[in-house]
Amino acid sequence: MNNSKHVQESASDMAQRQQQMAEQTRTIAQRMAQIEHTIAVISGKGGVGKTTLATAIANRLASEGFAVGLLDTDITGPNAPLMMGVEGQRPTMDGEAIVPVVSATGVKVMSMGMLAEDRDTPVIWRGPLRGMAVRQFVADVQWGKLDYLIIDLPPGTGDEALTVAQSLPGIDGVVVVTTPQEVSLEDGRKAINFARRLQLEVLGVVENMSGLICPHCGQEIEVFGSGGGEKMAQQIGVPFLGRVPLAPALVTATDRGEPLSEELIPAPVWQALSQIVAKLRE
Ligand SMILES: Nc1ncnc2c1ncn2[C@@H]1O[C@H](COP(=O)(O)OP(=O)(O)O)[C@@H](O)[C@H]1O
Ligand SMILES: [Mg+2]
Repeated sequence: MNNSKHVQESASDMAQRQQQMAEQTRTIAQRMAQIEHTIAVISGKGGVGKTTLATAIANRLASEGFAVGLLDTDITGPNAPLMMGVEGQRPTMDGEAIVPVVSATGVKVMSMGMLAEDRDTPVIWRGPLRGMAVRQFVADVQWGKLDYLIIDLPPGTGDEALTVAQSLPGIDGVVVVTTPQEVSLEDGRKAINFARRLQLEVLGVVENMSGLICPHCGQEIEVFGSGGGEKMAQQIGVPFLGRVPLAPALVTATDRGEPLSEELIPAPVWQALSQIVAKLRE
């Protein structure tokens, strides 16, 4: 008797959960329908400049007059708020919905890190629960109408990034960030494989930290070699978006949360970013 009551309860629990899931799917679909283009930025490993590129792309698009959002789903290294100059700011609530923080450049920024009580990773963000947490998070954030939503995914092309990307419906394509020394056909294939499993288009490859612009003479020094990213992209048949040189001024600016500008960074870096954004817009 007890047993059957238990079964009945869990059956109604399950029905309720299914209803909640269906509702959540509808909410997400409604929110995503207001977003024109969704681009996820991925990398084979951490520290290659994924967040730097994601924030630079978001700021550039905003400066061109587009309505832009930046979603940071990299819970292990949620530094998009820092690079966007909104570190420490908390999103506000509109009823049940989370209203993103707006950067000085006009980008709506939302980081899963903003919801954590402290900087240590809460248990909920780990393992299989993470996919559900990401979905809930995406359902709750009120972006409003956007031309572009740029998503900073967790580093790597393994399960971690895959789980998060799978929970985000409506991604149009991915941008792969690599560094010259990391570049290999194998990395390229991993990225392609990642995109295929998600049925996403690879919008292109960016080779970051490609050559050093000497702060004294402005000449380029090839520290790690260069051109590997382009070759890799060619060999696996995906577009090459551009090479961003290594520039110390870029670190200073991003650490301070200052948007990259023509005055702050060397001309070749600025040109590279312009070219990448132009190719993406196509
Ligand atoms: N082109 C570059 N030149 C110089 N420093 C860079 C460049 N790209 C990124 N960095 C720096 O490298 C560090 C790692 O970049 P980040 O974007 O946080 O990488 P990821 O998000 O892939 O972990 C940051 O301190 C950033 O300022
Ligand atoms: Mg990062």
